[in-house]
Amino acid sequence: GDYDDAYRPQVHFSPPQGFMNDPNGMFVDANGTYHLYYQYNPAANVAGRQHWGHATSQDLYTWTNQPIAIFPGGPTEGVFSGSAVVDVNNTSGFFPNQTNGVVAVYTINVPENQTQHIAYSHDGGYSFIKYADNPVISPGGTNPTQFRDPKVIWDVSTQRWVMVIAYPIDFEIGIFSSPNLINWTAESNFSHYGVTGLQYECPNLVEIPVQDSNLSESMYAMLISINPGAPLGGSITEYFLGSFNGTHFDALDSTVRFTDFSKDNYAGQFFYGIPSDEDQVTLNWASNWQYTNVVPTAGEELGDGFRSAMTVPRGHYIKNLTRFGPSLISYPWNIMSIVESELASNNSLDNGTVLLDYSNVKSGAVYFEANITGLTTSESLDGTLNFTFSSSVSGESISGGTFISNGDVWLDRGHTDGFSNPFFTDKFSATGLYNEDDGSWRLSGIIDRSIIEIFLNGGELSASSVFFPTRPLDTMALRVSGLNSTATASVGVWALKAAWL
Ligand code: FRU
Repeated sequence: GDYDDAYRPQVHFSPPQGFMNDPNGMFVDANGTYHLYYQYNPAANVAGRQHWGHATSQDLYTWTNQPIAIFPGGPTEGVFSGSAVVDVNNTSGFFPNQTNGVVAVYTINVPENQTQHIAYSHDGGYSFIKYADNPVISPGGTNPTQFRDPKVIWDVSTQRWVMVIAYPIDFEIGIFSSPNLINWTAESNFSHYGVTGLQYECPNLVEIPVQDSNLSESMYAMLISINPGAPLGGSITEYFLGSFNGTHFDALDSTVRFTDFSKDNYAGQFFYGIPSDEDQVTLNWASNWQYTNVVPTAGEELGDGFRSAMTVPRGHYIKNLTRFGPSLISYPWNIMSIVESELASNNSLDNGTVLLDYSNVKSGAVYFEANITGLTTSESLDGTLNFTFSSSVSGESISGGTFISNGDVWLDRGHTDGFSNPFFTDKFSATGLYNEDDGSWRLSGIIDRSIIEIFLNGGELSASSVFFPTRPLDTMALRVSGLNSTATASVGVWALKAAWL
């Protein structure tokens, strides 16, 4: 693939060519190598006959493309989404003399039904052997063509494998257990929670550490991706927090919480193998089924571009937020590890603007932070923080910002002219809440050629948006205004290393 195309992200994963959607099978091995598999149609720039593409990384930003890991069998087969685990204790019996055996658990889609299959790898996840007695779970119920996306974790309390899987049009998440990844028992269903849209897809169940609170050391999150029918159209992911006893997930409350306030964050998956007392990490598909097959990152011919990227890796923990209660925090994981150089820094900006030309940054990717501190009085809350990335040639721009007084945060991709589509929503917003105890307000973001991700207060709210200008964006303005004398702003802007050039 051509990695220097104007739309090709440089600090985000995208496939060499062809079409990519959901992240699959993600795990970190004992040597610290991260494995990403992904829904992949290598034969066209649109979704089609799905394979499991594969890439590896040491840092989750710099990726090595690997050969396709799992191919479909017959001509009507698609290898759909699923997960992978490291079977250290050889529960499956596939790995008599090794501790690094990998088992992939995925859906085989054929016109007649969707069934769950496994494949095992003796070489640490590079090549897989399909299990001879597949499928390991056949559909029950009345909708055999709608049963997919198994995500498996190891449950310490019961010393068994636990799977969550979607019955998409029944609006149910099935919870199964297994001693060996081969024989699975249905334990319970988590049904009709939250926004249903028209389908539930790609569930995750994960234990996540809780930070600074009297709640508990950790909680379980149940994440459900819904498509079509997200409130903003198409695809989005919602989550529920609660507890898990090895067979049942109990939601703490019935509040619907979303992982993102824009439209390009779907089907995220948690890495298997990160210790449960550490922040958990996801990659998420940065696109939306409403327009993913027509975005201008690819032409008609295979090899002319690519379609879709993943978000940057996101770190996650749970924080108890005033008013909202426990919430899933989503921040750019280890972003400072890929900084190439500092473009601007000002520790006492107060009210003012940082203006910079980043046309000489090879990646075209930058990270910025604006931290306001000393918000002690109510007048000091009148401030605003905002940013614009624009093209010095065409004037096209991406902008966003936040009003401290009411907590509103916004993102506008409407002033870019490279793509038009009725579902390509222009503007997004959400509302956070100022916390008096720490007197601070923060906005940060990553822009990378055709994708932007922004984070309010370290990830209490976040948004992921793709955008398509006709000319590369090369100029940044970061503005702070309306602060009174008790508050100060410190801002920084950094060039990010091009991982693909
Ligand atoms: C979600 C999804 C999954 C399915 C896969 C097929 O984006 O529809 O439910 O397994 O994509 O590519």
